[in-house]
Amino acid sequence: MPEYISGELKPAGLRCLAGIHYHPSIQAMKGLLMMKKRTAKLIDGKKVSEAILSELKQEIEGLKAQGITPGLAVVLVGEDPGSQIYVRNKRRTCAEIGVASFAYDLPKETPEKKLLDLIAKLNADPKVHGILVQSPVPKHIDEQKVLNALDPRKDVDGFHPVSKGKLLNGEECFVACTPAGCQELLLRYGYDPAGKHVVIVGRSNIVGKPVAALLMQKAKGANATVTVCHSRTKNLSAVTQTADILIAAIGVANFIKARMVKKGVVVIDVGMNRIPDATKKSGSRLCGDVDFAGVSKKAKAITPVPGGVGPMTIAMLMKNTVFAAKRSGK
Ligand SMILES: NC(=O)c1ccc[n+]([C@@H]2O[C@H](COP(=O)([O-])OP(=O)(O)OC[C@H]3O[C@@H](n4cnc5c(N)ncnc54)[C@H](OP(=O)(O)O)[C@@H]3O)[C@@H](O)[C@H]2O)c1
Repeated sequence: MPEYISGELKPAGLRCLAGIHYHPSIQAMKGLLMMKKRTAKLIDGKKVSEAILSELKQEIEGLKAQGITPGLAVVLVGEDPGSQIYVRNKRRTCAEIGVASFAYDLPKETPEKKLLDLIAKLNADPKVHGILVQSPVPKHIDEQKVLNALDPRKDVDGFHPVSKGKLLNGEECFVACTPAGCQELLLRYGYDPAGKHVVIVGRSNIVGKPVAALLMQKAKGANATVTVCHSRTKNLSAVTQTADILIAAIGVANFIKARMVKKGVVVIDVGMNRIPDATKKSGSRLCGDVDFAGVSKKAKAITPVPGGVGPMTIAMLMKNTVFAAKRSGK
């Protein structure tokens, strides 16, 4: 059986590449050689996010010298294990780069009014430059009402209607972190979306719609021709095959197959799906919305999962927090 070695398939038990006679059939050998070939460059979100965090760390030192310490309040309601991990990572990153982190962990039965009161308190606190309410909140709380209650100047997640409206208008604003991370990855790897056909699969309020709004702007780092697809799109493959850049934000493991993309496409895989894997101690592993093994043989470049868009989301949150702090000092 072939095995994965640093992201590439290595034919196990192959004693000599030239020695086709070592293998049961030429066909099998051909198959293995085909499998070995990953033409796509890896878009390494972990590396890029580390570079961004290190840039921010320096910037924060400069701000501290001026008496400004960027502060982020992270509010978690309930004990959802996934949310707890996200929140822990955000708080840890704050500590690593010198952002003051204010933790509010509330029980899941917290009344909506109490959460809104906390938001009002944080809105008024000058030490808090950014406020994040971890999604999802328990069902008895109206999440949009909570987001609407944020001071838009502290909306570092970019989910307040003012931020979304400004994004559409092309005004300076907090851009939602995952879409901003997708754009940053493209730009840092030299894949400027200008003039390119960007196909986005997914139209959620947190990824699909804002990344479409971001990349269609008449602005540096954007200027793309954008198509947004969703579950009602007819003949999806015919659309995805026309993408120069494909952004997958679907929430279905390995949904985008090699036959759905054209050769040379640049792929940003936003998906984060947990699938069973008996070889892991936990019994599961993370995977994206794109069939990495297949698509990476046709693509020019591709993000892995994990290690692609995920780390970028936190880096962009920190960037937004630093931006909020700088703006508060003006
Ligand atoms: N890396 C990160 O930091 C990060 C951040 C956010 C999300 N994510 C991940 O990204 C993925 C998407 O998240 P989301 O919040 O945007 O998900 P979502 O709200 O569930 O939206 C999924 C979108 O995919 C579309 N879709 C579903 N099945 C489809 C199909 N068979 N054909 C075409 N379109 C289909 C849906 O279409 P309809 O609108 O028609 O239902 C919807 O627009 C998830 O895996 C999530 O975990 C990662």
